[in-house]
Amino acid sequence: MDTLVINGGQRLRGTVRISGSKNACLPIMAAAMLAEGPSTLHRVPALADIKAMAGLLGELGLRSDWQDDTLTLTVEDETPSHARYDLVRKMRASISVLGPLLAKRGRARVAMPGGCAIGARPIDLHLRGLEALGAQIELESGDIVATAGRLRGAEVYLGGPFGSSVLGTANIMSAATLAEGTTVIECAACEPELTDLADYLNAMGARVTGAGTPHVVIEGVEHLTGCEHTVIPDRIEAGTFMCAAAITNGEVHIDRVRLDHMMAVVDRLRAVGVIVEKADGGASVSSSRRLHAVETTTQPYPGFPTDLQAQLMALVCLADGNSVITEKVFPDRFMHVAELARMGAQIHKEGPTAIVTGCRRLVGAPVMASDLRASAALVLAGLAAGGQTIVNRVYHLDRGYERIEEKLVALGAEITRVST
Ligand code: UD1
Repeated sequence: MDTLVINGGQRLRGTVRISGSKNACLPIMAAAMLAEGPSTLHRVPALADIKAMAGLLGELGLRSDWQDDTLTLTVEDETPSHARYDLVRKMRASISVLGPLLAKRGRARVAMPGGCAIGARPIDLHLRGLEALGAQIELESGDIVATAGRLRGAEVYLGGPFGSSVLGTANIMSAATLAEGTTVIECAACEPELTDLADYLNAMGARVTGAGTPHVVIEGVEHLTGCEHTVIPDRIEAGTFMCAAAITNGEVHIDRVRLDHMMAVVDRLRAVGVIVEKADGGASVSSSRRLHAVETTTQPYPGFPTDLQAQLMALVCLADGNSVITEKVFPDRFMHVAELARMGAQIHKEGPTAIVTGCRRLVGAPVMASDLRASAALVLAGLAAGGQTIVNRVYHLDRGYERIEEKLVALGAEITRVST
């Protein structure tokens, strides 16, 4: 198992190029099985989750051909329909194969994903949506077994207690492309990754309108044809590097970023005292020496993303005054709090809210990564801390950040990966 050893205190300077979005890429890869003929995806990040999805699709009859960051997916065999538990357990986004399997092959057996470090992760909205399209769904030995003839267009409401569901919307949108008639999704998730999925589906011949809004209309078509698509830049990776620049009091140019996907993030970073400006097709990020405390609530897009909550928390550990961070998407997503406390952070948690009392300095310590974004927060804290920080269980980080230590080292950080 790898660890990262970070000698903190270096100011980051230079340019970092943002990779393609993991969360856009995963449901797009799954949707490739809807097509006749190969799909070629550009700017696919080399990440453990992407490899896991390619492995799962391999079991489902799709061949993956890689050339640098270009991936061509070709359907070779349409008989398999089983996404096994040991694959789904490793990566929850495996649930994205459910809609495409059902729409194209008429059957799907997908292991029911369990909970994970960020809390309970139900999939009732996915199932309710597919049932509305005409699927019969049963639970058998921990697997969701879904069958259908041709799906039928329907009105589907995807609102849940914590807003909509991103992958639920992806599943219903993908499945409805091949349904007979028109599907209307109300309370669809609006994340840019779903607009990217719709762009890919439309390039294959689908008729999806309204993606990126809560009201999405999909007119079903008879068949889809593979196409070429370039994945959008990863807004969560970009936000993480913005926090890295700010926490080290550095000056970083973020290349290939979509600031229009990051308005809430930029708003909160500016409130902290981070200077974010559009520059040369990207953004330049620097920070004032003193950071200000902020209040933030995570929300579905276009609100502040839950996937940057931990990183923002690491940043405001060093701000003047008390910051209040409330988690409204995954209310238990606070595993990083105890680890940040090991580095001297002062954080008081009260239900879904954390109150962070800024301190003058963090101190390096051995810490344990618990999930992907919590790990990123610990790396950020390590970059700013005095002394050495050892981040254990780096495999979480490898799921979602392409070559993170290489990118940080190129900006002047002192980080080494140690394989044990
Ligand atoms: C996606 C992202 C993840 C991000 C999350 C929220 C991918 C691969 N993952 O996950 O990085 O943190 O969106 O932005 O894109 N819920 C229900 N019923 C359901 C489904 C979800 O109640 O059927 C609840 C969840 O428990 C959670 C909230 O809805 O509280 C949002 O979850 P959801 O949008 O489904 O997350 P994912 O799509 O799994």
